[in-house]
Amino acid sequence: MAKYECDDKFKSFLQELPKCEHHVHLEGTLEPSLLFQLAKRNGITLPESFPPSPEACIERYNNFADLQDFLDHYYIGMGVLIKEDDFYDLAMEYFTKAHNDGCHHSEVFFDPQGHVERGISIDVVVKGFDRACKDATAKFGNTNKLIMCLLRHLPSAAGLETIKSAAPYYENGTIHGLGLDSAEKPFPPELFTECYKYISDNFSNVGLTAHAGEEGDSTYVTRAIDQLKVTRIDHGVNSQHDQELMKQLADNKTMLSMCPLSNVKLQVVKDVSELPIDVFFNANVPFSINSDDPAYFGGYILDNYVAVHTRFGFTHEQWAIIAKNGINGSWCDEERKIELRNKVDEVVAKHT
Ligand code: ADE
Ligand code: ZN
Repeated sequence: MAKYECDDKFKSFLQELPKCEHHVHLEGTLEPSLLFQLAKRNGITLPESFPPSPEACIERYNNFADLQDFLDHYYIGMGVLIKEDDFYDLAMEYFTKAHNDGCHHSEVFFDPQGHVERGISIDVVVKGFDRACKDATAKFGNTNKLIMCLLRHLPSAAGLETIKSAAPYYENGTIHGLGLDSAEKPFPPELFTECYKYISDNFSNVGLTAHAGEEGDSTYVTRAIDQLKVTRIDHGVNSQHDQELMKQLADNKTMLSMCPLSNVKLQVVKDVSELPIDVFFNANVPFSINSDDPAYFGGYILDNYVAVHTRFGFTHEQWAIIAKNGINGSWCDEERKIELRNKVDEVVAKHT
């Protein structure tokens, strides 16, 4: 439970601290209000089992039994996204909130297979999201990257097809990364080795990451690193149980993109205080703090920072290390990293 105060002054510091987000699913930023608005705009009737109002959604979101229970709801919710403008509006809402939270660089996931299987073209999805990325940069001065995720409950062959259909976007740099998400446990990373290899063999400068160690054990993290050759791990909470892996993560500066409020809502832990955030910090395992599916899990990036602060009480200097680890683990160029690290120093100097 909360052991430390995060008063207004410290919250302003956390807000101003230049933050990078590496783990947010754009479909997971679909707030109930926009969900119902888009359902109306697109003439979509949601299934009987779906909560009938935004208020009922919020109630439902407090009661996810586990990852699969959430995913069952999430895939239905994204069914209201039909037109390019829907994808644009969704992403623009996220970028606006992230900007208000003091997030300067976002690397955002999207799940094309969840749309293509409903008859929506990947071009509609990517064009809407890409336009929002560009407009957000113009409006807010942030930087951002799109990461395409494969759904691990679908066959690897389907993932490969999806990658091939997205090839022009990898070639021209519109999509910058490959990720792996959805139900973890029965679908270990190595099932997707050919997909990751295809990306490395055919496109240069594409970032590789995968969800691992959220519900799966620490070997999921090891297998994602060894077989998929990822340079980053999404969640990675269960890495804490393998000391050799912890050392490897620290030595190789493999960043874990952690999602504290998500881990509570999906019953990975009962409270943020149970997460090994201090253990990772003390072992020099780099991590960033992220929102995952903020519309479903009760908080955007700043809420996650505050939740961590109230449990672990990091000092300004420790927060600067966390922020800089997030910058260093980002896939933006070195010039942008220098700019962001300098901003961290300025904010710390102002607040200490
Ligand atoms: N898709 C959206 N959120 C996810 C999560 N937390 N884990 C796996 N897949 C996801
Ligand atoms: Zn996730």
